[in-house]
Amino acid sequence: MSGIFISFEGIDGAGKSTHIERLANAFRAQGREVVLSREPGGTPLAERLRQMVLNDAMDAMTEALLVFAARRDHLQQVIRPALDRGDVVLCDRFTDATFAYQGSGRGFDWQILSVLESWVQAKAEGGTTPILVQPDLTIWFDLPASIAAQRLAGARVPDKFESQPLAFFEQVAAGYAKRQAADSARFARINADQTLEAVWRDVDRSVRAQGLLPC
Ligand code: TYD
Repeated sequence: MSGIFISFEGIDGAGKSTHIERLANAFRAQGREVVLSREPGGTPLAERLRQMVLNDAMDAMTEALLVFAARRDHLQQVIRPALDRGDVVLCDRFTDATFAYQGSGRGFDWQILSVLESWVQAKAEGGTTPILVQPDLTIWFDLPASIAAQRLAGARVPDKFESQPLAFFEQVAAGYAKRQAADSARFARINADQTLEAVWRDVDRSVRAQGLLPC
């Protein structure tokens, strides 16, 4: 069985978590081994980098380098071995978050992020175009920034990103839209401004439509 890699994206407050758990159970019901992970994080080293990225003030380049360093470790230690075993990897955020947050949100150079992506995720040299480890499917929970802000208000003590103003999240959302436009076959854009059950139906449908679960 070949491994399956699915990432989950969206601005803070878009409500990914319950659907990731539910999708894990849907794969387990098919007899698949599921690896649940997150970025930044997923290994002891990457979790330490996560603490810095989420709590310490730094410029956007430093942030980008740290999230890609964390991603490298996560790919080497967890994601690649799991895919090689034929497991299903469900990852709460991956590289699209770096383009959305550090690129569009904080204004860091999109081209440099592409270079870092091609270094960190290179799987093999295929002629002039390197083959990258990329998710088979990216489920993007799309929600207006104003609604996400209402959902987050008072929910918990905000981290460095969650305490950003509305305009930041509007830029982040635009970053996700740009990534989707560049690679639309990989993306399922879900309207996250619906009831939990309606969102789940769309998530479930998008995974089956991609042939990753039986219809
Ligand atoms: P999040 O995934 O929302 O976790 P939690 O639900 O525990 O808050 O938090 C991760 C934060 O890190 C989120 O605000 C987005 C940010 N982030 C980046 O800025 N760049 C990245 O490359 C990644 C993966 C996340």
